Amino acid sequence: AEYEMILTEVEGRVAIIRLNRPKALNALCDQLMDELGQALRGYDADPGIAAIVITGSEKAFAAGADIKEMQGRSYPAIYLDDFIGKRWEAVTYVQKPVIAAVAGFALGGGCELAMMCDIILAGDNAKFGQPEINLGVIPGAGGTQRLTRAIGKSKAMELILTGRMMDAAEAERANLVARVVPAAEVVAEAVKLGEKIGTLSAPSVAIAKEAVNRAYETTLAEGVKFERRLFQSLFATADQKEGMAAFAEKRKARFENR
Ligand code: HXC
Repeated sequence: AEYEMILTEVEGRVAIIRLNRPKALNALCDQLMDELGQALRGYDADPGIAAIVITGSEKAFAAGADIKEMQGRSYPAIYLDDFIGKRWEAVTYVQKPVIAAVAGFALGGGCELAMMCDIILAGDNAKFGQPEINLGVIPGAGGTQRLTRAIGKSKAMELILTGRMMDAAEAERANLVARVVPAAEVVAEAVKLGEKIGTLSAPSVAIAKEAVNRAYETTLAEGVKFERRLFQSLFATADQKEGMAAFAEKRKARFENR
């Protein structure tokens, strides 16, 4: 596919999608989000791909939704266009693991996009924030919900009510990110993580992701029951037989990986 606002590349079994509007610090306009959605759907359907990395530049993962594009929109227009609805949620429908490799600014919609991914790896220069309050609005792509679940109410309130940015070290302490690495290495580390996941059983990985995500949607009792059913279902897979046989025979498992 031909894209104007993203760059795509494949390393081994890991796809890398790079947001690429450098002059606007990767502000997330409609076209960019449409291209991102198209690329995500393509890689999710591609059996050669085990995991997807979304990244930006060393200066900015993304500085938010495109303010200049939003500025003049009316309420009926954004309502009828379902802004931000389907266009922004593409990443939440991906079955394969999606890793955000965040260097530089991840603000507003950029922070929200990172939080829709399964794992966030942060470069040591990363800055996270929800500055929408400075624009007379509030986060609109899940920020008030996902940030609160990730870092807790008090800190989420402080960030969302003031627009203050949080650096990588604070984001790690607050459990927003899995790990902090040198900014120049964040994409390579994300690819390494994707490659590691890619050596494992693809159905188990997709089902594990689904089970973890359920923790956000349901009660503990229902979530545990859901997990148990999924766990039991994996005994129908060749990968369960292979993985357990390999352990018993003291050898490395050879999973089908699709
Ligand atoms: C449109 C943006 C932009 C954005 C930066 N630019 N962020 N354009 N939308 N969100 C543009 C600038 O206008 C400028 O263009 C160029 O990128 C470089 O930005 P500077 O401000 O000159 O860079 P710097 O001084 O380094 O400051 C970096 C910054 C600042 C702190 C990240 O750009 C900033 O505050 N950006 C806005 C952050 C923000 O409010 N995000 C939330 C957006 S609302 P020119 O043409 O002047 O060179 C949102 C809502 C989501 O995300 C809800 C659901 C969609």
